[in-house]
Amino acid sequence: MDFQAIATAPIDWTGDGLVLGLFEEDFAEAGTLPEPLTALDEMLDGAIADLITEIKFKGKAHSGAASRVGRHTPVKKLILVGLGKGEKADSEAVRQAAAKAAKLAKAQKCATLGVALPTVGDGATTVQAIVEGMGLALYEDKRFKSKSKDEEGNDQNDESGYPQTVSLLDAADQTASIARAEQILSGVVLARQLVAAPPNEVTPITLAETAAAIAAEYGMELTILEKEECEKRGMGAFLGVAVASDLPPKFIHMIYKPEGTARKKLAIVGKGLTFDSGGLNLKGPGSGIETMKMDMGGAAATLGAAKALAQLKPDVELHFISAVTENMISGHAMRPGDILTASNGKTIEVNNTDAEGRLTLADALVYADALGVDAIVDLATLTGACLVALGNDIAGYWSIDDDLAAELKAAAQSSGEKLWQMPLEQSYFEGIKSPIADMKNTGPRPAGSITAALFLKEFVKKTKAWAHIDIAGPAWTSKAGAYTPVGATGYGVRLLVDWVMAA
Ligand code: BES
Ligand code: MN
Ligand code: ZN
Repeated sequence: MDFQAIATAPIDWTGDGLVLGLFEEDFAEAGTLPEPLTALDEMLDGAIADLITEIKFKGKAHSGAASRVGRHTPVKKLILVGLGKGEKADSEAVRQAAAKAAKLAKAQKCATLGVALPTVGDGATTVQAIVEGMGLALYEDKRFKSKSKDEEGNDQNDESGYPQTVSLLDAADQTASIARAEQILSGVVLARQLVAAPPNEVTPITLAETAAAIAAEYGMELTILEKEECEKRGMGAFLGVAVASDLPPKFIHMIYKPEGTARKKLAIVGKGLTFDSGGLNLKGPGSGIETMKMDMGGAAATLGAAKALAQLKPDVELHFISAVTENMISGHAMRPGDILTASNGKTIEVNNTDAEGRLTLADALVYADALGVDAIVDLATLTGACLVALGNDIAGYWSIDDDLAAELKAAAQSSGEKLWQMPLEQSYFEGIKSPIADMKNTGPRPAGSITAALFLKEFVKKTKAWAHIDIAGPAWTSKAGAYTPVGATGYGVRLLVDWVMAA
């Protein structure tokens, strides 16, 4: 799909499909067509008015319809989408309306599409949201399908019915906004592909190779710490998790440096379990073990953000970190009851091998904390408790710094990737005190996502601002959203990009 920003107005545009976005306010006067559409409607021989009447279109959010207009008209198909109330509309309303339009255009087999959605905020934000919404909505993953024909006998790789060229109308000056959105999309697509790929394909080895490919393509520095190097650094918590896997652990550290002097230094840390069996506390029926390839969703968001940000080129130094391994079982697996020593010297009694993410993050956070960065943000598919609390659409986050918390909240608002702040209730640390070691890796069932955050906090000492984002819910979904498919969502990339670009 090629996007272009052009000066042409809807009434002068010629092609397969024309997308018009409308607010509820546009229908304030019952029975009359919103002012900007009257001339267009006249030109299309009343097709707009007819469609609006037929489907009782009122500009409501998530509503939309398409109709054939004519054979000899400048446009063959008309696609209407609603953005809800204008005063409430934000960039997410634009993203969702654009996604709806893209799906309708695909179903209508429009190869060329003209898009006229109302400006929400400013032109740049609107165009970026349109490209994101359309690009994400039409994303498909056919990498693991062998057959090239679908059930109806159509060639699966035939893209002729998709929108091929999308022209953003009345938007001549927005070429840079399209480029920005496409750079972000490339990062989200990478994250989706990494999470969706099976655990026999995305392994610690191949994830490190992916990091190497990104670093090479965009000129970033990369260090991969092999097992021996991790041992030397005393990363006993990370290596305790890795010990049962037949695959070598990989500790990824990628650095983006801006051309001039860096205004800030930031670190992003992602949980990178390419598969989580639970270990000897093996995940049982109903635990979702068959989807635990998604347990590297934090690492995927980290690498996706790295790919996007290396193209966006902010004037900040960025460190992308992930301690990557699998949580497996074997005769030499980590036992419940084992005591591990992390790289900061803290001892951890492992009372549940399935709470492995925090063990790998412990050493990754100690490493990030030593870099002297202004802020660390970690993303992790960490707890079922957070998924239970906030569901699939919202990630929980904890922060030791109010400014960082506010920055993340703003990034959630602009990116449409939802967050909800949770308390770092220090008194709950009681629950993970160990009679024999410095702490245990799990506490009681209540507030399980909070004790997980408190555990991580023990490994950040120097850095003034640290936030932990539990993405167990939004990294993966069994229900398709406006522009997210079933399965891997790519959650976190847009949030991280917006955070870094505004930080
Ligand atoms: N990777 C899981 C958390 C998870 C669960 C992510 C469901 C996505 C969907 C994590 O390693 C885990 O197993 N957590 C345990 C912690 C418990 C043993 C304290 C959990 O949430 O059950
Ligand atoms: Mn686990
Ligand atoms: Zn896990």
